[in-house]
Amino acid sequence: MLQFTVHHTSGQARRGTLTLNHGVIDTPQFMPVGTYGTVKGITPEGLKAAGAQIILGNTFHLWLRPGLDVVRQFGGLHRFIGWDAPILTDSGGFQVWSLGAMRKISEEGVKFASPVNGDKLFLTPEVSMQIQTVLNSDIVMQFDECTPYDVTRGGQKHITTESEARASMELSLRWAARCKAEFARLENPNALFGIVQGGMFEHLRDASLDGLAALDLPGYAIGGLSVGEPKDDMLRLLRHTAPRLPANKPRYLMGVGTPEDLVAGVAAGIDLFDCVMPTRNARNGHLFTRYGDLRIRNARFKLDERPLDETCTCPTCRQFSRAYLHHLDRCGEMLFGMLATTHNLHYYLQLMRDMRAALDAGTFDAFVTQFRADRARGV
Ligand code: GUN
Ligand code: ZN
Repeated sequence: MLQFTVHHTSGQARRGTLTLNHGVIDTPQFMPVGTYGTVKGITPEGLKAAGAQIILGNTFHLWLRPGLDVVRQFGGLHRFIGWDAPILTDSGGFQVWSLGAMRKISEEGVKFASPVNGDKLFLTPEVSMQIQTVLNSDIVMQFDECTPYDVTRGGQKHITTESEARASMELSLRWAARCKAEFARLENPNALFGIVQGGMFEHLRDASLDGLAALDLPGYAIGGLSVGEPKDDMLRLLRHTAPRLPANKPRYLMGVGTPEDLVAGVAAGIDLFDCVMPTRNARNGHLFTRYGDLRIRNARFKLDERPLDETCTCPTCRQFSRAYLHHLDRCGEMLFGMLATTHNLHYYLQLMRDMRAALDAGTFDAFVTQFRADRARGV
């Protein structure tokens, strides 16, 4: 179901191999986000060519559309979407939380109206495990409550207090135990990961971690980061929590982040990442390169014959100029989103390959120094 081996370390950073039911993953690794069973703007072949070894899907969205009857008929998500490599699914906790006022949280679970057709739905730890079992995802995430950094009530911003963060974290812990019991009852052959919560408080992160470690799950994630907090808080909680997670199990930082965040995450001991940033930003004309980020809409690129990134070997950079991409974007052409997505994912996955190679070679610190200098140079 899951086997994890750490081959080399450098400080807290780890180079490993993760074996799942649908294949083997080199870690540290980045997972492109395929919410509805598709990574927007790229085919499974394109993903493989860019170096993707695992993608992320969403329990919440796939439950609403196409629904479990369809996925069940295909024997799981892999055959339905034409992706034969590993899949991780998020539990729905974070996505339901993003619905805002449309939901009602209780000990039992979360009641909400379907944003598709208004149907009354009830998502619980048990239901999340049942859905993820039908999806047959290689990594199943526990159902949790993502503690918000702040909430707006009556136009007033309220930052989550220690007691609110504690109550939310304790609810997620009780839900983790229910997930483990249901996952076992369903005889799910895959791997269930717990999610550390605790807001911006180190001692609450420790309590969450201790409670989850007692459940002896095959992997652990850090949730509740990149939810609107200042970057310094994100890095403080990341650097506190990651090294305290069990050393012999995979560690996953949820929903993070920029290229700089991935490098900071690996340095702190993270093995897996996911983020919509490379794909969503691509469609908005925000391209990542070795020498910094580039907004292709900017008039300075109108006559620029260079590729997006002279050091990139992706199909977009091998064939097309910045001027052509600028033109496609200005015209709202579909091809722009496809070419930009291919490049951004290639950049993210190449960054992960470069970090793995540096860890293999014992040159990770030098890599980080060069990475920072290159990114600060500018395009
Ligand atoms: N994605 C990003 N953050 C989170 C989190 O805290 N929980 C879950 N389930 N998914 C996330
Ligand atoms: Zn490229």
